Amino acid sequence: MADDKLSKIVSLCKRRGFIFGGSEIYGGISSIWDYGPLGAKIKKRIKDLWWKTYTEDRSDIVGLDSSIIMHEDVFRASGHLEGFNDMLVDCFGCKRRFRLDKIEHLRDSLYKCPGCKKEIDTNVSKPRKFNLMLRTNMSAIEDEPYWGYLRPETAQGIFCNFQNVLSSTYKKLPLGIAQIGKSFRNEVTGGSFIFRMKEFEQMEIEYFCAPEDSDRLYEEWVEERYNYYVNRIGLKKENLARRRHAKDELAHYARGCTDIEYLFPFGWSELEGVANRTDYDLTQHSKVSKKDLSYFDQKNNRKFMPHVIEPSAGVDRTFFAVICDAFCEEEVKGKLRTVLKLKPQLASHCAAILPLLTNRPELVELAKRIFYDIKDKITAQYDDTAAIGKLYRRQDEIGTPFCVTVDVDSLADKQVTVRERDTMAQERIPIERIIEFVNNKLKA
Ligand code: GAP
Repeated sequence: MADDKLSKIVSLCKRRGFIFGGSEIYGGISSIWDYGPLGAKIKKRIKDLWWKTYTEDRSDIVGLDSSIIMHEDVFRASGHLEGFNDMLVDCFGCKRRFRLDKIEHLRDSLYKCPGCKKEIDTNVSKPRKFNLMLRTNMSAIEDEPYWGYLRPETAQGIFCNFQNVLSSTYKKLPLGIAQIGKSFRNEVTGGSFIFRMKEFEQMEIEYFCAPEDSDRLYEEWVEERYNYYVNRIGLKKENLARRRHAKDELAHYARGCTDIEYLFPFGWSELEGVANRTDYDLTQHSKVSKKDLSYFDQKNNRKFMPHVIEPSAGVDRTFFAVICDAFCEEEVKGKLRTVLKLKPQLASHCAAILPLLTNRPELVELAKRIFYDIKDKITAQYDDTAAIGKLYRRQDEIGTPFCVTVDVDSLADKQVTVRERDTMAQERIPIERIIEFVNNKLKA
């Protein structure tokens, strides 16, 4: 059943231009995906909403756009060079490689290969450490490599720029630095669509504060981010959970961590992590770079190393959760209707302008004129490439909240029919009221 839902979503995403396999015409690359025309729009809306909420509507958070390729010492300081590893085992049966923590443990040293189902004996096929970072040679001379690393999290660019931001903005703590951008991990376990990718996007905030404020701010951020998914993204509460990490699950530097989980078709999995990272990162970067990254609190005349609360969200996982939450199949007059009940603010466009008949040039002309008149005020699409029933089904599948149909009567009475996606209710309204009508519905 769950597999069934997942395969329907994957197929819809491909069919309607949300997501395609990366380098597909050359056979693809595992865990690499491309966003198509509609997927790119929704993804941008997800990022824009987050960016506006945190960097524009709040004065205690500023934005940053740091580079993807970073110095090796950044990751020496952060601990990624030494510790960002998976333990991998080779199956001698099917010659594939798996993460030890992701395969079935039978007994003692024996595991079950998820590929060919044969036994893997870890006394024979010894697990090996595999660093997840991707590196690139930046040297001009081929046999003298100079390695740069593709960041595995956007966070490190924030820590490296902490003093730059502080001194250029004259801000005081508590101060958040927010960043949206690509991160890279050489993930070995694929197979859950865009859940685990080698190239993905993160939306991260490092919220720098005084040590004594960190426990309170951590709790506040967990609530803030949970409520954001419910109220701003529109995910159903029953599909969201907060899961606190047990003490033995915490990273060595973390004082607390809570995952915001979503009920994906394959089960509850992490959508975002909110962590109390203490002063670990700035202390490490101070040590390795030999630059003082501490903060001078003028009001209290004291110097300290700021602590950090980190709400770290995945753009792709948010996108995935949005599509899963909105995906719906219902029977209408004996036929199956597939509809994406997206929150209108996230849909690729709010309205589709459709002429009822394409063999009547004056109808097509009126429909196009309406589209050009409204497109700067509400997001809209014009489509006359099929019969009206088919156009409605297409718009339902991509989650367009309103279809505006221009018919023969529109020529005389200057009215159109607006059809609502979720109820399929139809209403006749004057052409000049389309924008007001849609905006009122969006506010409701
Ligand atoms: N700076 C902290 C950090 O990166 P993380 O839990 O490893 O923490 C944060 O990642 C978020 O980034 C995850 O909750 C998830 O949404 C997203 N993410 C991490 N790895 C991912 C991957 N391989 N593919 C897609 N999204 C990923």
